[in-house]
Amino acid sequence: MEFKEVMLSRKSCREYTDRPVETEKLEAVVTAASMAPLGMPRMGKPHLTVITNKELLKELGALAGEERGDIIYGAPALIIVSCPVSAPGLAEMNAACVVELMALAATDQGLGNIYLYGVTAMLQKKEDLKQKLGIPAEYIPLSALALGYGTEPVSVCKAFEKTLDENIIA
Ligand SMILES: Cc1cc2nc3c(=O)[nH]c(=O)nc-3n(C[C@H](O)[C@H](O)[C@H](O)COP(=O)(O)O)c2cc1C
Repeated sequence: MEFKEVMLSRKSCREYTDRPVETEKLEAVVTAASMAPLGMPRMGKPHLTVITNKELLKELGALAGEERGDIIYGAPALIIVSCPVSAPGLAEMNAACVVELMALAATDQGLGNIYLYGVTAMLQKKEDLKQKLGIPAEYIPLSALALGYGTEPVSVCKAFEKTLDENIIA
């Protein structure tokens, strides 16, 4: 896809089919993560946890309790981005750069995807599950990307137009 088509096709997907994500596609998304800009990478780079195990996905999806329902929307793959604590806010910004780039890469692969904070906020309180997932000690799960084949195919869904306020100082 052309870059502009990728941008205009990305949207949050909250309904997935059971079709598993091909290893090559997951690999392309994970590789894209390494292209992200990082602030102070010498303080520690983000760590990715790539999960396709159905039991673990179910456990993660249920972390907010029955009332909230599945907080990863039944996606067949989840990539958690964890960062070491560095300068204030920097870890979160690094995680966001990584997740957004993976979201665009997933879109380019024809995969539905969604940026998720909620599941990582819940996971932060579960030291045992963090360990089970192999998240390095001293790393905090900060953001995640859920991905898979959505019930609707990926296609251009918006116009290239401004929706944010701005002021111009010439
Ligand atoms: C930092 C961040 C955190 C988000 N966390 C969640 C989340 O936990 N659960 C969820 O359903 N959507 C989450 N979203 C998705 C937003 O709700 C979605 O991006 C927004 O409504 C715009 O829709 P779009 O992605 O289709 O353009 C998050 C998005 C961002 C950027």
